Amino acid sequence: MLNDKIKQLVETCIARISNIDEMSANDLQKIKSESLGKNSELQNMLKSMRDLSPEERPAFGQLVNEARKTLESAFAEAEAKMKEKVLNEKLQKETVDITLPYQSVSCEERGHLHPVNLVANEIMDIFKGLGFEVLEGPEIETDYYCFEALNIPKNHPARDAQDTFYIAEDIVLRTHTSPNQVRVMEKKQPPIKMLCPGKVYRSDDDASHSPMFHQIEGLVVDKNVTLCDLMGTLETFAQSLFNEQTKARFRPSFFPFTEPSVEVDLTCSNCGGKGCKLCKGTGWIEVLGAGMVNPKVLENCGIDSTKYTGYAFGMGLERIAMIKYGIPNIKLFFENDVRFLKQFR
Ligand code: DAH
Repeated sequence: MLNDKIKQLVETCIARISNIDEMSANDLQKIKSESLGKNSELQNMLKSMRDLSPEERPAFGQLVNEARKTLESAFAEAEAKMKEKVLNEKLQKETVDITLPYQSVSCEERGHLHPVNLVANEIMDIFKGLGFEVLEGPEIETDYYCFEALNIPKNHPARDAQDTFYIAEDIVLRTHTSPNQVRVMEKKQPPIKMLCPGKVYRSDDDASHSPMFHQIEGLVVDKNVTLCDLMGTLETFAQSLFNEQTKARFRPSFFPFTEPSVEVDLTCSNCGGKGCKLCKGTGWIEVLGAGMVNPKVLENCGIDSTKYTGYAFGMGLERIAMIKYGIPNIKLFFENDVRFLKQFR
């Protein structure tokens, strides 16, 4: 009689777990603990073994064990099926319909580069094509890198608190990108061909000056570098940036870190040199400062000035962008008025 009961127990249990499609993982766990757990009928039967005669016990014990094994393997199978079912349901639920049309962002709302970045990228591309590498430097500088090493003496007006933002007695916001020339030359022996773009700061504020603006610095140091190399490179650069007809004019100037120094004008990109409002009727527009690196600066950086010469140049990016795009006021770059910015898309 007990045998029949065990058989029936096994059959009922197997029948219960056979419709796995209709149950959850929790349902299955519940049936398992009801069938094999501490308070299950099978366990109770084992307990009732003590009421049997010693002769009956071994056969009965074997039967219960077999029943348990059968159930355990039935549950293992059901659990594997359940795992697969749960995974399939999850995959089904999380399917992404890649055929749905995407929500397009209109041209009006799409982001784009700021005009200063556009010009910086264009300038860097031109010089990279000429073999220059881009090496950036810190915006917070020491007096030494910003002035002293560049041969700008203690009493030079550039050091005046009216032009320079001082953070501490010997720490400034860099007023130009030139200090990075020194940093690069200190670390590297020639040949050097580098470009340094970045923010610079000066206490200056009107339609063509802003307390923060951007410069790009260039430096070439090698054997036999001459002023002709500088002139040729800058004219090639100007023709790539504006147009083939652009000409460069070099006027004598003075910078403590270059000797000789030049101021570079380009033929006005607006009128082609005929004279217009933009170039104030002269046909020329001043765009940058340059010169042959002062031997004192080379020596300050540990470069032998009897063996090597170099040229350097520095230009304001906003100024170049103003000329290139005909922008009348530098403030437009920093107000972030989208009506202005979106014209450069
Ligand atoms: N540092 C100068 C300035 O901010 C620009 C400049 C002039 C940089 C001549 C140079 C240079 O490298 O050779 O006004």
